[in-house]
Amino acid sequence: MDQDENNERDGLQLGIFMPNCSATYHISSYKPEPDDWTFASNKRIALAAEKAGFNFLFPVSRWRGFGGATNYMGYSQETMTWAAALLAVTQTIRVYSTVHVPVFHPLVAAKMGATLDHISQGRWGINIVSGWNAHDFDMMGVELLPHQERYARTADFISILKGLWTAEPGTFNYDSPWYRITDGYVMPQPVQKPHPPIVNAGSSADARDVVARLCDWIFLSPPSIEATREMTTDIRERARAYQRTVLSAGCPFVLWRETEKEAEEEKRRIIDAADDVALENWARGLGLESGSFDNYTKEMFVIGGGALPIVGTAEQVAEKLARLYTLGLDGVLLIFLSFYDDTVRFGKEIVPLLKQMDVVKSMDAY
Ligand SMILES: Cc1cc2nc3c(=O)[nH]c(=O)nc-3n(C[C@H](O)[C@H](O)[C@H](O)COP(=O)(O)O)c2cc1C
Repeated sequence: MDQDENNERDGLQLGIFMPNCSATYHISSYKPEPDDWTFASNKRIALAAEKAGFNFLFPVSRWRGFGGATNYMGYSQETMTWAAALLAVTQTIRVYSTVHVPVFHPLVAAKMGATLDHISQGRWGINIVSGWNAHDFDMMGVELLPHQERYARTADFISILKGLWTAEPGTFNYDSPWYRITDGYVMPQPVQKPHPPIVNAGSSADARDVVARLCDWIFLSPPSIEATREMTTDIRERARAYQRTVLSAGCPFVLWRETEKEAEEEKRRIIDAADDVALENWARGLGLESGSFDNYTKEMFVIGGGALPIVGTAEQVAEKLARLYTLGLDGVLLIFLSFYDDTVRFGKEIVPLLKQMDVVKSMDAY
């Protein structure tokens, strides 16, 4: 996008990829702060994010961890219940839940989601993921379908949610290889009209097609800053073919210090303490048919679980985030090393720079 096109955009939305799982997100034993996975920590971070004017909070949905010295993601808060608790203690910020298609019935998810939207008076959103880690599902006796079928089922799941949330209650019907809904009834329907924002966080062509047809946002993890342009252009064009608009968010790991050298040294400490066992378990799971992670380096997984590392001074970080905005990202899901401190510091040190550059437009701290 050029400067003129940027002028017409709403500005970059700022979110936090919350540490609702333990040892997130760097797969490394280097932990400068105590672990933040508990609800008390998540609440403290959420309130700081809201105070700083962040737009949204986003969790990870996991059912078991990846082992290793860090027991990576070994503890996690389930994200529907997590969102309910956070929405009850916040006032302005949006909170997402992430549901795995293979283990939720869409009518149950629609009912829970409508309830969350009422609790929050319209601040809830849903990330619907197809699942990729067989280890999570094996323990439940749930089969992970072949990739294409997995997304066909995800498309059905999303169509059912939308139908239940928008059709006259008691009238919605759906018949597919995976679901049969007869006179589907969900009351109350959500506060947000036509429905709460629907995200998918897949990357493959199968995922992008489902997003283009049915979702409001795609959440991506581009392998490099410049690769962002291809991803956001592709999703915009796919959506246009269905006369739709889809917004894109990326998930950078941001680390900034007074000097670039200090920031790079901190990054090196993370890499040098890599948890190779957890990394291997994580990579083995991701290898499953997706092909979505072929361009990612091992370092990217150690630093932020595959997130794009953005490291340097505050000015350098702000400039790179501005570049991501110009390359088509409408939002960022920030991953930090020290979540609470970095949430507060980001609000004070980087948001003003993004505002000066007219990249962040609507973020009002209160
Ligand atoms: C920002 C982001 C968040 C994600 N959150 C989850 C999650 O919570 N649980 C999960 O199982 N997968 C999650 N994923 C993985 C994706 O749903 C998807 O499986 C992965 O990106 C591979 O894409 P593909 O299925 O299109 O090949 C996430 C991916 C991204 C980029």
